[in-house]
Amino acid sequence: MKQSIRAKVLKERPVNQDGFINEWPEMGFIAMSGPYDPKPSVRIVNGCITELDGKKREEFDFIDQFIADHAIQISQAEASMQLTSLEIARKIVDINTSRKEVLKIVSGITPAKMSEVINYLNVVEMMMGMQKMRARKTPSIQAHITNLKDDPVQIAADAAEGALRGFREEETTVGVTRYAPFNAIALLIGSQAGRKGVLTQCAVEEATELELGIRGFTTYAETISVYGTEKVFIDGDDTPYSKAFLNAAYASRGLKTRFTSGAGSEVLMGAAEKKSMLYLEVRCLYVTKGAGSQGVQNGSVSCIGVAASVPAGIREVMGENLAAALLGLECASSNDQSFTNSDLRRSARTMLQFLPGTDFIFSGYAAEPNYDNLFAGSNFDAEDFDDYNVLQRDMQVDGGLRPVNDEEVIRVRRTAAKAIQAVFLYLGLPKITDEQVEAATYAHGSHDTESRDAAADLIAIEDMWKRGITGVDLVKALAESGFEELAESILNMLKQRVIGDYLQTSAILDETFKVCSGVNQPNDYAGPGTGYRLEGNRWEEIKAIPHIIDPDNF
Ligand code: 5AD
Ligand code: CA
Repeated sequence: MKQSIRAKVLKERPVNQDGFINEWPEMGFIAMSGPYDPKPSVRIVNGCITELDGKKREEFDFIDQFIADHAIQISQAEASMQLTSLEIARKIVDINTSRKEVLKIVSGITPAKMSEVINYLNVVEMMMGMQKMRARKTPSIQAHITNLKDDPVQIAADAAEGALRGFREEETTVGVTRYAPFNAIALLIGSQAGRKGVLTQCAVEEATELELGIRGFTTYAETISVYGTEKVFIDGDDTPYSKAFLNAAYASRGLKTRFTSGAGSEVLMGAAEKKSMLYLEVRCLYVTKGAGSQGVQNGSVSCIGVAASVPAGIREVMGENLAAALLGLECASSNDQSFTNSDLRRSARTMLQFLPGTDFIFSGYAAEPNYDNLFAGSNFDAEDFDDYNVLQRDMQVDGGLRPVNDEEVIRVRRTAAKAIQAVFLYLGLPKITDEQVEAATYAHGSHDTESRDAAADLIAIEDMWKRGITGVDLVKALAESGFEELAESILNMLKQRVIGDYLQTSAILDETFKVCSGVNQPNDYAGPGTGYRLEGNRWEEIKAIPHIIDPDNF
């Protein structure tokens, strides 16, 4: 058949390089209301749930049992389950029903009921729901800080710039596993050089990550993964109980933790049990709550390619973010891994969380060029900073970032690079040269930096680990090398670990190390004129983008 010229032009558009699949519920390729999803039900005998969503207690798998025993407020269940799902859905968008009231109702509903409630909401209603239900009043944003060389000097410089731009959490990971301690230290020190009070983590294998935390090299942990079917959980060698234990291990050492889950993981691992992505993710969220975690990173996360391939997949992603908020969990709402070739599509996807605001709109904005992102490419990266700032200004929406000028950027990048240079010298680690400091100060990415001797670094890391170096040694190194202010900041971050206030739901620290959380700064949105409003100094800051016509110059 002869093809029209327009069809040919359209075929070459980036969006047509994306992968799409029809609904196939038998294999789990179904976003929201699956034909095999259970119907909501609950039966309580002597304070014990004996039936959950159509299953008798004898038929429970370990996820059902964990949810029944730990994640549902039994005293509230009968009252909540008597409301229809449509009534609950309407309360979520009704400005005359408070966030508190909704939290109370939702605490007593089952996973299938939650799924049914979310299914009643279109994306605009989901956004209205998130605007009201997110835990912390002020939204925030998290960054990825990585590079192809695992270069600690670049990590420190990028962390400083990211902090200056407004990220309140920064996470790194590794190309080469054994680099983890250097990456964690560089991130910790660099971030404080940009803006005080930024929380940092290094996502690696669980035992190492826990030890990095215990040593004081990190201040939070986020990749405690949970899954929606028993088979997938067991394949990962885990159970809800082992995850609850790991969560407690972190919390007992004063580290903020959140779980990670999201649509598509069960499909990818071939054991979705014919259930919809939303229903399985809701089960994950109940496990997260039952395990006592303060929050979750969800929204498909690394499995976004699967969710984005099915009809209403992006609506489902927002639906699961909202489900997290409805359970009272902090929600770091993904927007991390890239999933499309289309700039239109990646921007549109982000608006669902950006416009209402979430606890962390991105749970991994790449604050480096995409080629340096070791978490796999992000939906937005360092080259999108100005676009993001303009979006905030266009819509008068606080996305957590701010415009900066190059002079400030260079200043904090240099301070961070020099500080890590001094710490390496003090601790007897392989020298960071002045050339490395200078290159990292002005670099966009690792193509612009001086390479280090990787073999020497890896030997030094092993030795440092054996010497038992901790966060206190970093404080000493900085204080005795002329970086008193930075030393004070790191010490303050270590003190948080003992105080423990930042273990509260959705906690971040401000620049004076004061906790802002869902507890002391709860979201009080109740319709127009209430809740968080972008105004005052913060609005002035967002308005001041570069390349702007100043009327005063006429
Ligand atoms: N479900 C569970 N865990 C996930 N992660 C990412 N996406 C998901 C998901 N959909 C976790 C994995 C990964 C890290 C970046 O986050 O542990 O390694
Ligand atoms: Ca993250």
